[in-house]
Amino acid sequence: MQISLKATPKPSNQKSDCLILLLTSDEAAKKAAIADETLAKLVHSLNARGDFDGKNAQTLLLPVCKDISAERLLLVGLGKHDDLNDRSYDKAVAAMFNALKQHKITGASLLPSEALSASLELTRALSGIARIAETSRYHYSTSVSKKPEPTLKKLTILCAGNSATRAAIAEGQAVGQGINVARQLGNLPGNYCTPSFLAKEAKALGRKHDKLKVSVLEEKQMRELGMGSLLSVSAGSDQPAKLIVMEYSGGRKSAKPQVLVGKGITFDSGGISIKPGAKMDEMKFDMCGAASVMGTMTAVTALKLPINVVAIIAASENLPSGSATKPGDVVTSMSGQTIEVLNTDAEGRLVLCDALTYAERFKPAAVIDIATLTGACVVALGKHASGLYSNDDAFAQRLLDAGNKSSDRAWHMPLWDDYQNQLDTPFADIANIGGPEAGSVTAACFLSRFTKNMTWAHLDIAGTAWLSSPKGATGRPVGLLTQYLIDCGKA
Ligand code: BES
Ligand code: MN
Ligand code: ZN
Repeated sequence: MQISLKATPKPSNQKSDCLILLLTSDEAAKKAAIADETLAKLVHSLNARGDFDGKNAQTLLLPVCKDISAERLLLVGLGKHDDLNDRSYDKAVAAMFNALKQHKITGASLLPSEALSASLELTRALSGIARIAETSRYHYSTSVSKKPEPTLKKLTILCAGNSATRAAIAEGQAVGQGINVARQLGNLPGNYCTPSFLAKEAKALGRKHDKLKVSVLEEKQMRELGMGSLLSVSAGSDQPAKLIVMEYSGGRKSAKPQVLVGKGITFDSGGISIKPGAKMDEMKFDMCGAASVMGTMTAVTALKLPINVVAIIAASENLPSGSATKPGDVVTSMSGQTIEVLNTDAEGRLVLCDALTYAERFKPAAVIDIATLTGACVVALGKHASGLYSNDDAFAQRLLDAGNKSSDRAWHMPLWDDYQNQLDTPFADIANIGGPEAGSVTAACFLSRFTKNMTWAHLDIAGTAWLSSPKGATGRPVGLLTQYLIDCGKA
């Protein structure tokens, strides 16, 4: 989508299909708060009549409006000035783009509110608009015959263009496009999006950017590296596992990379510990960690961030067959630790542990794994927050901050030693499940056994990566991850 910036003294004279005003309820109620007199009069009379009070995410479209040069006028409420924050702003902006979509408006100009405050800077407001402009255009159509309706193509933001405002727009657009990449990969059916397909997509991204090098380890190479844990998951599938490695070099050669590790189970049947039938189709989303890594790398390369990033995707199917791993089998991980597979449905940690050990060779500044790891995390946090675990509290705080700023929040969960002995077993160094209590915590504890030498965080995105109605991938946590990497580039 084309987004441009243009300062104008009199927005009511701006020609376009639709003029959009984002207004706090304070602005809506006070005539003097709006500089453009024509608009001030209009808004004030609508407010006095009770048609528009500016409450958060309220929209009012006037299909004809003779007083202004635009064809239509769309008023969007931001809520009370004092309540304005990153999330409430984004919520109102999302409602605005929904209204444009509903009315099939393809070109618009927008006044981002004159009343932004210290709690919400103009650059943050602009990047939010650009991000949601992109995400609101996304529509899944790959395996559907009916093609989607046209959407917004051109947006003019009535605000002065300078290096800061232009950078904010570019950031928002890149994040939005990254989110859409993650949603698209997540939404693709399991028979379209296989481990080999993910590898092909990564290679295609690598060909587009000369600073991005992509390589794919095949099962034979993984076997030579001793990745017995990862390979125990693909053992039951006809689709070969792939370990996808993407190396982006935007920083100094000597700078240690940020490393992302994504769970890429392209379908999780549970394996021999097979899942019940209800909602099993949703386990095509079990590669959303990998998808978020791909989406984040798309944004990182588009923004040419001045840092080094390595992305590792552990891709496999989890299916039962005569060659599948059985409950009670013991496998040896690349780290040398033996693992008793008590439940083949706890497969995410089995692919991640070898990918995390592999990550060590890049001498990471920090490593973050992203995984739809446990149903227990959905029970604990629902669909609102990703579960965050880390062996470094300061690092965890930086990720929490990035999540708050990008409306993609995480919640810090405990990784106390007290939970570790739930993974004890007489038959191996560690069991792959920790019993019915604190399932999301013990899954993180399992991973912590493989990341002792690194600054590490784990994001359990089982609740946030997709929605069940309407069913679809959300693209989370591309917003959090990209914001974190943008901040790394500024530090
Ligand atoms: N991919 C699932 C986790 C999941 C389940 C995410 C439902 C979202 C919704 C994971 O591989 C899994 O099956 N985990 C098991 C672990 C258990 C066997 C210890 C779970 O959560 O039930
Ligand atoms: Mn599973
Ligand atoms: Zn899974």
